[in-house]
Amino acid sequence: MPDSELPFEPYRTKVVERIPNPSREEREKALDRAHYNLFNLTSDEIRIDLLTDSGTGAMSDRQWAGLMVGDETYAGSRNFARFERVVRSMTGYPHVLPTHQGRAAENLLFSALCRPGDVVPNNMHFDTTQAHVLHQGAKPVNLAVPEAYDPNSDFPFKGNVDVAALEQVLRGPDPVPLVMVTITNNTGGGQPVSLANLREVARVARAHRTPLYLDMCRWAENAYLVREREPGQAGRTPLEIGRDFFDLADGATMSAKKDGLVNIGGFVATRDDGLAERLKELLILYEGFPTYGGLARRDLEALAIGLEEATEIDYLEHRIAQVRFLADRLDRAGVPYFRPPGGHGIYLDVNRFLPHLPPEELPGQALAVELYREGGVRTVEIGAIMFPLESVPGRRSIELVRLAIPRRTYSVSHLAYVADVIVRVYARREQIGGLEMTYRPERLPHFTARFRPKGATPPTAPHGP
Ligand SMILES: Cc1ncc(COP(=O)(O)O)c(C=O)c1O
Repeated sequence: MPDSELPFEPYRTKVVERIPNPSREEREKALDRAHYNLFNLTSDEIRIDLLTDSGTGAMSDRQWAGLMVGDETYAGSRNFARFERVVRSMTGYPHVLPTHQGRAAENLLFSALCRPGDVVPNNMHFDTTQAHVLHQGAKPVNLAVPEAYDPNSDFPFKGNVDVAALEQVLRGPDPVPLVMVTITNNTGGGQPVSLANLREVARVARAHRTPLYLDMCRWAENAYLVREREPGQAGRTPLEIGRDFFDLADGATMSAKKDGLVNIGGFVATRDDGLAERLKELLILYEGFPTYGGLARRDLEALAIGLEEATEIDYLEHRIAQVRFLADRLDRAGVPYFRPPGGHGIYLDVNRFLPHLPPEELPGQALAVELYREGGVRTVEIGAIMFPLESVPGRRSIELVRLAIPRRTYSVSHLAYVADVIVRVYARREQIGGLEMTYRPERLPHFTARFRPKGATPPTAPHGP
């Protein structure tokens, strides 16, 4: 990539945070202590943290200034009024209920709408969305287009819903309380949904009198990719494109830790007056009064500012260019990743990276562990461990390792370092061994599961007192 094409950071540094540099020996010890689950590492043990782009970004000087005008009134805070105004004008949804993060918004929406035996279709549920649907006794079904399951396809809208399959589910025997569409599709590679596809989804949902909700946590990135890839959208702003998406739906949940550019926060928004009343009751029960909903009021001020900054074109251009920079470095070395590069990160294609490891040896987790071992880079498995329901024993499902890029946080040099680490691991891929799980929790297993290298001797039981 010539220098003129290097992503140009549209911001300069005002505050710095030192980056730790644990030695190989320290990393080895950390892996052992963490039971080979990278969620158990501490930040001092990590050189570059690409575990998630959720709540890990940097706030702007304007957002930090916003914190100083926090009006911590219990009910009727000025910060809530500003936040509500921003979300209303962005989405057009009249009812806006703040929550402490995305999964709290999911809890409210699914508690209000789902009953045991219901089916909830989505292009692809994210882990917390799936867990909340299951928590209500309902069944999550993923209905992404077939291209979404082909890591090699360069189809530009791999987040799209298979509309014929959706129609079948809506006609089927089980009640469907709502249709969800996740923009972008995080589980399937950060891939966007096209406007044309959402129009079709909305038409079918309307025909079956079923409400349509968006999981809008990466909506601005989705809008930017639509602007780039969808015919007829090139001259439009992300706000205009986003508004078309919101107009087609009845409401949305948002983890604002992504395109809200804050470290904590979320909301649920709807046009449905009756539903809003039920959501408000649940909000008070679980989160807090509707003008703060589980957040400090100053957080709402930072969020209102962040939501606007996330739609700025130079910010989005740089963000997507960072993802492409990493993809370009991997292309040069022939490293397989889920194509095309999406909105918030690169997803390594584990089945082609480590073809010698069978699914039982947890190749995704093994690769994530190896990237940490090689260079202190923390990533996350998105495969058989995170989504056990998607996996059929003995069959290879899509197995990915996600490198999620935190917003406004790392520079090109950091990403070049990450690419070097991946390329070094790729060069010795045949020597990488598998893992086995020694503890599997019932819900959301990836967060707290424990592993050990396959064939390792189990540690001897500690002597009791
Ligand atoms: C698509 C999607 N939906 C929902 C969530 C849940 O959000 P939160 O972590 O704020 O609870 C996430 C988080 O990563 C996500 O990526």
